[in-house]
Amino acid sequence: MSKKIIRTKNINITTSIPAPGTYELMKKLSKFESRSMHGQLPIAWSKAKNFNIYDIAGNKFIDFTSTIFVTNTGHANSRVKKYINRALSSDLLHSYAYINKIRAEYIQKLIKFSGKGFEKAFLMSAGTEATEAAFKLMRMYGQKRKKRKLGIICFDGNWHGRTMAAQMMSGNKKQKEWIGYQDKNIHHIPFPYPWLVKKGDEEKFLMKSINDLKKKVNLKKDICGVMIETFQGWGALFYPKAYIKLLAKICKQSDILISFDEMQAGFARTGKNFGFQHYEIIPDLVCCGKGMGGGVALSGVIGKKKIMDLPEVGNMSSTNSANPIACNAGLAVLEEIEKKKLVKKANINGKLMHQNLRDICLDYNNLIKVYGKGLIAALIFNKRHKNINKKLKKLVELCIKDGLLIVYTGRESVKLGPPLSITRNAINEACQIIKKNINILFANDKN
Ligand SMILES: Cc1ncc(COP(=O)(O)O)c(C=O)c1O
Repeated sequence: MSKKIIRTKNINITTSIPAPGTYELMKKLSKFESRSMHGQLPIAWSKAKNFNIYDIAGNKFIDFTSTIFVTNTGHANSRVKKYINRALSSDLLHSYAYINKIRAEYIQKLIKFSGKGFEKAFLMSAGTEATEAAFKLMRMYGQKRKKRKLGIICFDGNWHGRTMAAQMMSGNKKQKEWIGYQDKNIHHIPFPYPWLVKKGDEEKFLMKSINDLKKKVNLKKDICGVMIETFQGWGALFYPKAYIKLLAKICKQSDILISFDEMQAGFARTGKNFGFQHYEIIPDLVCCGKGMGGGVALSGVIGKKKIMDLPEVGNMSSTNSANPIACNAGLAVLEEIEKKKLVKKANINGKLMHQNLRDICLDYNNLIKVYGKGLIAALIFNKRHKNINKKLKKLVELCIKDGLLIVYTGRESVKLGPPLSITRNAINEACQIIKKNINILFANDKN
């Protein structure tokens, strides 16, 4: 394989890519590990610091993935490491549900961070556990009112995790085939894709979905909750504000709870503490994970006391809930967001990233559109373009060879979400790499 040397302020590539030894490691791992873990491109990580990833040969890349929108505060963040070390040196690695001081300190700070309308939280480890917990809470809430008030409204194309209720609520039909049936009380309505809904028609679009649903159910008697991804993941597609405001109004009128899945949107990523704040509504429940633990497994549901206290003692708890290491990491993340002004940074540097990406799109009017807010973006390509998924895989591979990691979605998009600690210089450099490789692969599609 040919070797291309690249040395810049942010990138250092000195071997062929994938680095020597990568395929051997892949082979070794895939012998003993489920193949479901092996969908990523061949880059073997040895360390990651701030916005850089280093592979096993010491090649240094710019990370535009934050692993998968996890390391908002930067890889191996010093404060996160310091607080984890504090847990290690205090010899308190686990206390099950027995109380401890760090848990009390963290949960109180988390509630404050969540803002008006949030009173209690419940912590877990995985994001999918958080959406499951919200699903359970919404159903408990509904059934307290009427036995038949079980229905959950979800959205086509949204995604909420890999456990059973999470997959049932997700829009991906193929991924949930294993369940063997669909819960008839989970109702999917169309997502207001920008290419489907004309400006000014957002409320009309929602009303049509609601009226169609009303042919099957009575909102007040049959529906207990809505599960909504703050933006649709693969395309960083936000809802129109008017759509969400009307949805919140309808829910209020029919005593329906709204849960926002903030897995990717939370913890400053979009230029707000939580992404739902862009819509100027307050949800009943917020599901979070990913950026919450800064790289440590931590997830949670946050909500109003009257909902969070519905389960009996022991009915919503888990062996590893509120683990002291995770609480220390979570606390460090919140302090880091505050001290380093990461919300403001995501806003300002997000504008720079989006400007760069819009500049790329200018040359490809009919092929590429950019979506997202703050430091999350997706370039969505025209899906009618021949072999688009294959070409985008190639785009990601070319970027890796140039020292940049971006998210391969497996669809007609690539996703970009660097750690919020990234510099402006690295954002510009990364966007130039994306531009260069789009120009190589899509030369014939230029305006
Ligand atoms: C929007 C959304 N919800 C839920 C999840 C599930 O989180 P986890 O993989 O931690 O279970 C993800 C993970 O990608 C996600 O993006």
